[in-house]
Amino acid sequence: MSALLRTERLTRRFGGITAVNVCSIEVRQGSITGLIGPNGSGKTTLFNLITGIYRPDGGDVYVRNRRVTGLLTHQICHLGISRTFQITRLFWDLTVLENMIVPVRQVGLRPLVGPGIYRHEQERAMALLERVGLSHLAGQPARKLSFGQQKLLEFAAVLMADPELVLLDEPAGGVNPTVIRFMMDFIRGLNRDGVTFLVVEHNMEVVMELCDHVLVLDQGQKIAEGPPQVIQADPAVLDAYLGI
Ligand SMILES: Nc1ncnc2c1ncn2[C@@H]1O[C@H](COP(=O)(O)OP(=O)(O)O)[C@@H](O)[C@H]1O
Ligand SMILES: [Mg+2]
Repeated sequence: MSALLRTERLTRRFGGITAVNVCSIEVRQGSITGLIGPNGSGKTTLFNLITGIYRPDGGDVYVRNRRVTGLLTHQICHLGISRTFQITRLFWDLTVLENMIVPVRQVGLRPLVGPGIYRHEQERAMALLERVGLSHLAGQPARKLSFGQQKLLEFAAVLMADPELVLLDEPAGGVNPTVIRFMMDFIRGLNRDGVTFLVVEHNMEVVMELCDHVLVLDQGQKIAEGPPQVIQADPAVLDAYLGI
């Protein structure tokens, strides 16, 4: 399998902290790759570097062997890479349906102000909402959703751009077991349809069950990688992460 996404010696500092430290990773096309590590190990910063929210102090990002370092977020999105945020970013006073449309507009396909929602957008949004069990709430403001429903909405909205690679930042964080189970089945179904995933997740059961390959970060560096069963038994990983 070839690498859909690759970082090479990626580095990012914040003042005296090196959040991501000469970090080289690969996400293989068609995989569900896990990204784990203790709090503060640089997982979210790595996502921010990949998606163009931050610029690296060193190193490069490649998508399908094309160097994309320094591209803007909407340009990265046009390359087929979308992400969710650890802290959900919804527009509370917009409806569930409108929240599905906003990301498409933000990547520059069409301004948000304009002649309403196109029918094909609405149809796609409703089909996705149906798949995550939220279609009956399409007309409700997002603030009325439960926490789990917010996570599902953000996930569905990411799919509006029809991404090839989805970066998920703690999809199961704070979500109840039923929703976690649903998310995992949903991710697997999308993966069977060809979507590649890079998933940051603290719930180790989810990581072990879902991922076919796991990367471990500690203090901004990749300290281990391999199949979940191997990672689970790796002394360096246990020391850095599972032990705490
Ligand atoms: N915007 C920022 N400004 C300053 N420090 C930051 C910023 N973002 C992250 N950091 C620091 O970088 C380190 C890695 O953070 P983060 O990438 O959020 O880790 P993780 O997602 O693995 O918990 C932490 O020490 C964090 O405090
Ligand atoms: Mg984080």
